[in-house]
This record gives sequence, C-alpha cells and structure tokens, in this order.
Amino acid sequence: MTEAWRGRSAWVAVDLDAVEHNVRLLRRRASDRLFFAVVKADGYGHGAVAVARAALAAGAERLAVYTCDEGVLLRRAGVQAPILVMGYLQPSEARALVQHDLTATVVSVQQALALSAAAQEAGRRVPVHLKTDTGMGRAGVEPGAVAALAQRIAALTPLDLEGIYTHLATADDADHSYARQQMATFRWVLDELGRAGLGVRLRHAANSAATLALAEAHFDAVRCGIAMYGLQPSNACGDAALRPALSLRAAVVRLFALQPGQSAGYGRTFVAQRPTRLALATVGYGDGLSRALSNRGQALVRGRRVPIVGRVSMDQCALDVTDAPEVTLGDEAVFIGQQGEAEISADEVATLLGTINYEVVTALAPRLLRLYFRGDRLVGWRRLHDGAPCWSIGETV
Ligand SMILES: Cc1ncc(COP(=O)(O)O)c(C=O)c1O
Repeated sequence: MTEAWRGRSAWVAVDLDAVEHNVRLLRRRASDRLFFAVVKADGYGHGAVAVARAALAAGAERLAVYTCDEGVLLRRAGVQAPILVMGYLQPSEARALVQHDLTATVVSVQQALALSAAAQEAGRRVPVHLKTDTGMGRAGVEPGAVAALAQRIAALTPLDLEGIYTHLATADDADHSYARQQMATFRWVLDELGRAGLGVRLRHAANSAATLALAEAHFDAVRCGIAMYGLQPSNACGDAALRPALSLRAAVVRLFALQPGQSAGYGRTFVAQRPTRLALATVGYGDGLSRALSNRGQALVRGRRVPIVGRVSMDQCALDVTDAPEVTLGDEAVFIGQQGEAEISADEVATLLGTINYEVVTALAPRLLRLYFRGDRLVGWRRLHDGAPCWSIGETV
C-alpha cells in the first residue's frame, strides 16, 4: 500500500473486492432476492459512489439513500440504477426527486400530491414506496392507515405504488420475538392491501441483520448496509465470512522527544513520566477520529500497538512510540484496520467509545482522501475537491 498513499497525510482505504464479496454473500443469504445496497451517509463513510458501483457490479439491483441530495450525488456521478430515497421527503423536494429519477418513500398525502404534480409536470410515471411503522417507533404510516393512503396514491395516476416496506427494530438481537411481531403486523398490512385490491410488487423489511438471521423477513427484497461493508450488525448477529472493507490510516509526520515533565497537546493531559518518543499523525476529530480516544485509543505502527497520548485535536494526534524505536518519519499509522498480523477493528473502537461500529465508520469525514483498492492495486480515489463525480481511475495519486 506504500506507493498508493505517498505524499498523503491521512486517508481511508476501501477494499472494493471486500465490498463485492460481502454483497455476493448477502445475496446468497437472501436467496437472490432483489438487493438494495444501502449507501446513505456517504456509504457509511466509505464513499457512496465507489461503494454503489462495486455493489452494483456484484449483483445489487438497486441502491438506497436517506436524502434526496444523496440520490442526486449518485446520479451526477453517472449511476443509473434505481435509487430509493428512504428519508422524509419535503414536498418542496418532489420536483428534484422526479427530475433525477429517484424513488420516493411516501408517508403522507401531502407528499403524494407533491410527487403527483411533479410527475405530471415531467410527463411520466413515477414509482413510490410506502413505508409503514410496524413497531420501530420512527418514520412510517400507522398500519391501520396504510390502505387508505395506498388508495389515494393509486388514484394519482402518474404515481406507481411499486413498493411497501417497514424497518425492524431488533433484528440484530438473539431474541427474534419482537421482530416476528413486527412481521406479523406487516403481513396484516399486506393482507389489507390485498383486500383493497391493491397489489404491490415489492414488499421489503430486512436490513443486514434480518438478511443474515431471519429468512422470514426476506419478502421480495432486502436492504443491506452495515454487512455490505463487512461489519457485523451486532454481537448477537453476524457472519464470520464478512470481510471489513475499510481502514483509516495516517502518515507519521513528526518524531520528537519529551523529557519527564514535558507534555503533549491541549490541556497537558499527557505528561511524560520517562524519556518519551512521540510520533505525530495527521488525523484528528475533524476527520472523525473521536476526541474521546484521547489517552485511551491505540494505533498500529510497524505492526505494533501504540497508545494515543494527550488529547486528539482537530487535525492531529500523538502516539507514544517509545517502545517502538524502529518507527520512522513517513511510517503509516493505522487507527482502524489491519497492519501485518495486528488489527484494530471498528468494533474495538466502538466498544471503547461506548457506541456501535456503524457510528465509527460513518463519522469518517468527507475531507479524508478515499483510496479504493482491489487487493493491493489502487483503482481509484476521491478527494474533497473533486466535487460530485468524485471518482477517478488510473491516474497517479
Ligand atoms: C430503512 C432502512 N433500511 C435498511 C437500513 C440498513 O440497515 P443495516 O445497515 O443494519 O443493514 C437502514 C439503516 O439504518 C434503514 O434505515
């Protein structure tokens, strides 16, 4: 990987082969049902465009994002696959959504009317998915109100009620009883639609956890995020064959000595107790490396674990390399990922921070260079100033 990052200070490396492997694995688990690759929040920090392309290459038929803007970004990058916008649609966004050929999630009559007007203006039929809240206690239409809303949508001829879905609150628990209750409610909603003569082609409920562990939730399509990135949905649910795709790396740009009593960083929270050698790495909380890792987290340098000392600042942090005298300028420090035999997983960082792996990777800031690999081969990258298409292949970094 040395050649790939030369001259760069901090970067996220993503193995697209791993993403493809994970998509194929999940598709097999879902018996090749229609597959939504969930690439919201910049592809959980991995970079939405590159991950979307890899997922589509591995057989995903569709993409899912949260905001309309996230869908537009994919379109601007040339992605043509159907894209479901799962988030709350502001009626004022309806026109942009139709213009960019995105599929809306509808939970209200106002949204349906705004979409219908935009569809008429564009002169085409626009697919929509209705979302019902079967027990997540978040977005969605009350189960008892679905049939009435579906009827309204069906009457708005430029709209095509293509799908209906729900989201499961506890699919990643070992105990699936609540998830089963939610599915029973979902089936009741589907029956109601059937009784009202409203056939809906795509019924979907499964996230990664349900795709891996709850076959009854597969219906017509699955929506996978976290597992596609190779991370386990929870301690109770996963698959050992998933391959984490992402690592967070930074260059050592300064090596310096502290005498006992001298300190490192804001607030002097680290004071050397012995002659100490520090390595400065150019990654900080502005990049998504949590400040809560100050004096707690670790990094890998030359295949060894070394502690983060002092406060993580916005752009930099210090590593105590006193016991790793071989460390030199330009060495690579790994904050998430593997180096040699050693590994710091997103789960390990999450445990330290009292959060979940989802948040650890999604926190990685857009300003970090994304490097995309297939095995050891660099195949593309994204820089902040590349703008929307944010993808290039085959030039020299
Ligand atoms: C509605 C919906 N479906 C699917 C997903 C994907 O979930 P996961 O990353 O657990 O696979 C999410 C993620 O939060 C979601 O909000």
